[in-house]
Amino acid sequence: MWWENEFLRLKNRKLYLGRNQATQVARKYGTPLLVYSRSQILANYKRLRAVFSCQTALETRICYAMKANPHPEILRLLRRTGAWIDAVSPGEVEEARRLGFPGERILFTGTSVSSEDIRRAFNCEGVIVNIDALEQLDLMREVKRKEFRGKKIRVSLRWNPGIGRGFNPGVITAGKRSLDGTPVKFGIEEKKVLEAFEKASSYGFIPVALHQHLGSGWVKEDYEAVQAVAGKMINLAARLQKAGFRLEFLDFGGGFGPRYAKNQKVFPLAKYAARICRLIAEADLSIKAIAVEPGKYLAADAGVLLIRVEYLKESYGQLFACVNAGTYNCLPRPAIYAQAYHEIVNCGGGKGGKTRPVTVAGNLCETGDIFGKEIPMPVPKRGDILAVLHAGAYSRSMASNFNLRDFPKEIFIGSLPFSVGR
Ligand code: LLP
Repeated sequence: MWWENEFLRLKNRKLYLGRNQATQVARKYGTPLLVYSRSQILANYKRLRAVFSCQTALETRICYAMKANPHPEILRLLRRTGAWIDAVSPGEVEEARRLGFPGERILFTGTSVSSEDIRRAFNCEGVIVNIDALEQLDLMREVKRKEFRGKKIRVSLRWNPGIGRGFNPGVITAGKRSLDGTPVKFGIEEKKVLEAFEKASSYGFIPVALHQHLGSGWVKEDYEAVQAVAGKMINLAARLQKAGFRLEFLDFGGGFGPRYAKNQKVFPLAKYAARICRLIAEADLSIKAIAVEPGKYLAADAGVLLIRVEYLKESYGQLFACVNAGTYNCLPRPAIYAQAYHEIVNCGGGKGGKTRPVTVAGNLCETGDIFGKEIPMPVPKRGDILAVLHAGAYSRSMASNFNLRDFPKEIFIGSLPFSVGR
């Protein structure tokens, strides 16, 4: 199948997670259950590194967007590979530090940050603070004067290039307005970027990077716009270099995803890396590294959610598979983003079931609480285990205990040593 990888395989129509049959894993640990594969995350990480390192001699910094899945096992694994961290709150910064990431490998990209957020970030030695607003600098100066006088603090600037791209209006993080008209709150507009660099320097901060993050969930169709903005960022970096700022790295953000659906064409990452690296070489930038901030790319296809069909329900001509899990507490994406699609596979093969459109309905009190809408599949039976794919990113990390439903258990499985829980 199009979604098979090192971790997920069909054998005789049964789903295997590594060497284990998914239905047996579900029986052993109970459902709902999030199952992750460290080897798949590692494979994704290595592939991404290779895409960049075969294009450039510059160091490639892969900053894991830990908001996608901050499970300690994932962070420990990535720490050992040499990955960096993209953290967006002091909580994330401190968690990354606790799990052994040196401050020098953490970029703190906040939004609407408070003085307390800044104080906590400054407290972590070496953390690079990515500035979201010219006005944030005044807060930072205040905190520095009060408690961190004389401390060398490295900063980066997040610019908003005026164009964003993402699979849903809620995750387009650059531009003036998102697709639905919402004003975009992130980053510093182009005409203020030089002023922000000057202000940062005059306040005693050390500007080391220029950053952008356009949005999440790019597909092939996003390539032209994304590469054009990357080119603009490289030009801007060249202007900053001319103005006397010595940048250490350029950070192109995250956004490139795995393939979530059969009819989706993936973002051409190799072509993108080649283009960025060529433009950087042509612009004669004296940077020593480039950075990207993948969340989904590393974690999404390394996780599945296993859920159990409790009963089948017919109503007004619709067929529902009613399952023992809710979206909000297990995998909220299909409930909160109209465009989010997750493939659903019957782990036992769905033998004998006639193919019909099935709506996989959760156990929460909201109409939107469905994992998949009218998906053609062999009609499952009571007790069947379904796997919701691409559950490794933005599932548990965005879950709430709405309706006082419990969070799913989380386990790791695969060729690397087996481990359970947080
Ligand atoms: N860097 C920054 C500054 C970000 O804000 C994000 C995600 C990323 C990197 C990673 O983006 P990724 O590579 O995962 O696309 N909850 C949404 C995704 C929101 C992402 C927001 N920012 C979803 O489930 O699709």
